[in-house]
Amino acid sequence: VPYLAAHPLEFQTLEQWQDSERGLMPVEATIMVAIPELDGATGPMVFGGRSEKGGNAGRDMSVAADRADMLAARVAKLVSLRRSALAERRVGIVLFNFPPNAGNFGTAAFLSVFESLHNVLQGMKADGYTVDVPDSVDDLRAALLKGNALMYGAQANVHHRIPADEHVQRETYLSEIEAQWGPAPGRQQSDGSSIFVLGAQFGNVFVGVQPAFGYEGDPMRLLFEKSFAPTHAFSAFYRWLREDFAADAVLHFGTHGALEFMPGKQAGMSSACWPDRLIGDVPNIYLYSSNNPSEGTIAKRRAAATLISYLTPPVAQAGLYRGLVDLKTSLEAWRALEPGSEAEASRLAPVIQAQAAAVDLSEAEPAWDNADDAISALQSSVLELEYALIPHGLHVVGGQMSQEQLADMLVSSADAMHGATLPRDLALSMAAGDMPQAKDEAETQLFADMQKLVTGLKLESEVPALLRALDGRYIRPAPGGDLLRTPEVLPTGRNLHGFDPFRIPSAFAMKDGALGAQLLIDRHVADGFGFPQTIAFVMWGTDNLKSQGVPIAQALALMGARPRYDSYGRLCGAELIPLVDLGRPRVDVVITLSGIFRDLMPLQVKLLAEAAWLAAMADEPSELNAIRAHALDYAQKNNCDMETAALRVFSNAEGAYGANLNLAIENSVWEDEDELAEMYSRRKSFAYGRNGRAAKQPDLLAAVMAEVDAAYQNLESVELGVTSLDQYFDTLGGISRMAQRGGRAPAIYIGDQTRGQGTVRTLNEQVALETRSRMLNPKWYEGMLQHGYEGVRQIEAHVTNIMGWSATTGEVDPWVYERLTETYMLDPQMRARLAELNPASAAKMASRLIEAHERNYWTPDEDTLEALRRAGEEIEDRLEGIGMEMAA
Ligand code: BEZ
Ligand code: MG
Repeated sequence: VPYLAAHPLEFQTLEQWQDSERGLMPVEATIMVAIPELDGATGPMVFGGRSEKGGNAGRDMSVAADRADMLAARVAKLVSLRRSALAERRVGIVLFNFPPNAGNFGTAAFLSVFESLHNVLQGMKADGYTVDVPDSVDDLRAALLKGNALMYGAQANVHHRIPADEHVQRETYLSEIEAQWGPAPGRQQSDGSSIFVLGAQFGNVFVGVQPAFGYEGDPMRLLFEKSFAPTHAFSAFYRWLREDFAADAVLHFGTHGALEFMPGKQAGMSSACWPDRLIGDVPNIYLYSSNNPSEGTIAKRRAAATLISYLTPPVAQAGLYRGLVDLKTSLEAWRALEPGSEAEASRLAPVIQAQAAAVDLSEAEPAWDNADDAISALQSSVLELEYALIPHGLHVVGGQMSQEQLADMLVSSADAMHGATLPRDLALSMAAGDMPQAKDEAETQLFADMQKLVTGLKLESEVPALLRALDGRYIRPAPGGDLLRTPEVLPTGRNLHGFDPFRIPSAFAMKDGALGAQLLIDRHVADGFGFPQTIAFVMWGTDNLKSQGVPIAQALALMGARPRYDSYGRLCGAELIPLVDLGRPRVDVVITLSGIFRDLMPLQVKLLAEAAWLAAMADEPSELNAIRAHALDYAQKNNCDMETAALRVFSNAEGAYGANLNLAIENSVWEDEDELAEMYSRRKSFAYGRNGRAAKQPDLLAAVMAEVDAAYQNLESVELGVTSLDQYFDTLGGISRMAQRGGRAPAIYIGDQTRGQGTVRTLNEQVALETRSRMLNPKWYEGMLQHGYEGVRQIEAHVTNIMGWSATTGEVDPWVYERLTETYMLDPQMRARLAELNPASAAKMASRLIEAHERNYWTPDEDTLEALRRAGEEIEDRLEGIGMEMAA
């Protein structure tokens, strides 16, 4: 049976909890929520506590009546779900449209949504559900995305219309919503007289599209420090699911939606918290990417979700293509030159230079002064590209990896897990089930691990797990992480959790983090910038949950601090490493946390804040302690105390997430780059102190940012990339833009932790590497296009993200846009394929490339620009053509 974690408040009164925006205190969230999750607990619920008004002078426990009612209602719903007859069971499946755009319907991280949905519906039918499964994936997509959409001018099929009057009568929180969004029915997903419920019903299964947050395209709202209420359409959608469709259970389909990010406490929801109001007592099952335990955990804690993990796409080596293959051939010829063959060398060098220039790896002229050095640098670039790991295609729930993909996965895993080279033919035969003869101990271990991987990857566990959850049964827990380094994520189809928060950062992470910190300092010095005084450090939850806290450890190491543990070995604070042991100055580290990190790791928020405070208070010379020097200076100039001047941990206001630069850029609702800095500062200038509480400190943030030498973030997953997720430029790009506004352009570094000891690259290098190994690489884009509609959407998202980096950092070379334009827009065959598969996304790609030019991020020649414009128009015509066809 499901394990629901219910708990009283232990360290605060009911009234304090009710009034607080944070909800549970750090130690409560850890003991009562995070630790039970390791055993598969879900749907955490406060049911009581000590009341200031209660008996025995507030020492007796009393009930939080509305919470106890909700807990009872949830249990009752689980019981009736379990007892309901399959043929009668009603299930609501929720797809996402984020960011809201016609090309984005039904997209989710790493997932081929419609193929997966089709498989799940078939699995349900086979299990006994009453469900009319469309004949093909295309039919399913068309039923949802086309249908009567055009007739209503809607972005998907309108399944139901809720008249404004009815909404006004039935909406419990009408006044709160109207205060934010104006009178019902509101402007979102409405025709002025009714609200649309988008989706389609297939027997007893309703597949709906979650409405958007509503503020994505609204520059003023993007600036709000906090979030307030969902839109009329959002609230109406969930009410309709609960009360009208009368869902016995809701399945959120893929990573991730907006429900769990709605306003409310961070943990320990009350009945005033929106995620809790919206999901109500309906069992919530959430199909979630196995490598994203942090955002998954938010859904678990704030929207009572039981997670069902799905596998990320197979990982493969990028390989070389086109001009890069020619270049490599020449580089090999160069390496094969006999000593003394100067004549041949001087013939070959210009050929290599020309080939390198053709793929933007060198200038075409002047001729190299020192061909030996240039060529040896080229050799390592080409090697890095060839062996870069890339995600290959999208995952299909209920599908099978091909032998080829399995073999790719084995080759990548052998390298990541054992540092071993597994020949491809051997990998292929293992993928087919053979077990080769090992020649030594190391090979025995390698082959055994690879065999385990093959078994785990072949096991189809995701659809069965969904069916179990829909039966109201317990779902086993699983750690989240990347398959390459955490094979324990297999089998998928389990309820994701993080690590024991009392043990983050782990001893291993502390060692690894010290190395990572040193790599960063070394690179900064090697680039000629000297020893860094101040580093802006972007920190996410995911990266820490996956690595047991390596990024936290890196930040501590830079400051010269470490965690302090109690006698049970549990994290209880920070302590300084004496300067004599540190052997170098302390670095001032300004940390910006994602809202997700703040929610998930409250103990670590305090740890980082305490480390900065201890350093600021240490009686040490200024030149060896930049934190103290800067804090003293700020305190004196601003006449404030050291407690304030030493604040170094910044994030959103409680209950809010993200800088929203990604939404501004997605929707092109910004004029100049300074606006982006302003937006970042408004959203992210809340300083979290040693007590874990937030205070708005924009001046302090601006002052510290003006001193920043380098901005830094880790990249923990092969599946992710700085160009594949818009939050990277939202966070690291945002902080860089803020530092630039403060007067100096900081160096921007990415710590690639996906291999061995890690590598520090400049952002410019990282964007170039990802562009070549992914966007321009046929292996990558063909893998995407195999999934049609969603593949095109993924490619478009990469183009937008690249422009996000230009906007926030200016660190994208013009050749990137030129080659993207050539590859996707100027090649008529490719353009036709994109337009056919997902015309809205294809049109967006064209207009984004033009926008990038208009913002001066690249300068195409007249012919190219003209061709790009024509390509865009051709796709637009096609979009309209489709419209006409459907209207007819
Ligand atoms: C996080 O884990 O903190 C995070 C994940 C994705 C986007 C932004 C933040
Ligand atoms: Mg590492």
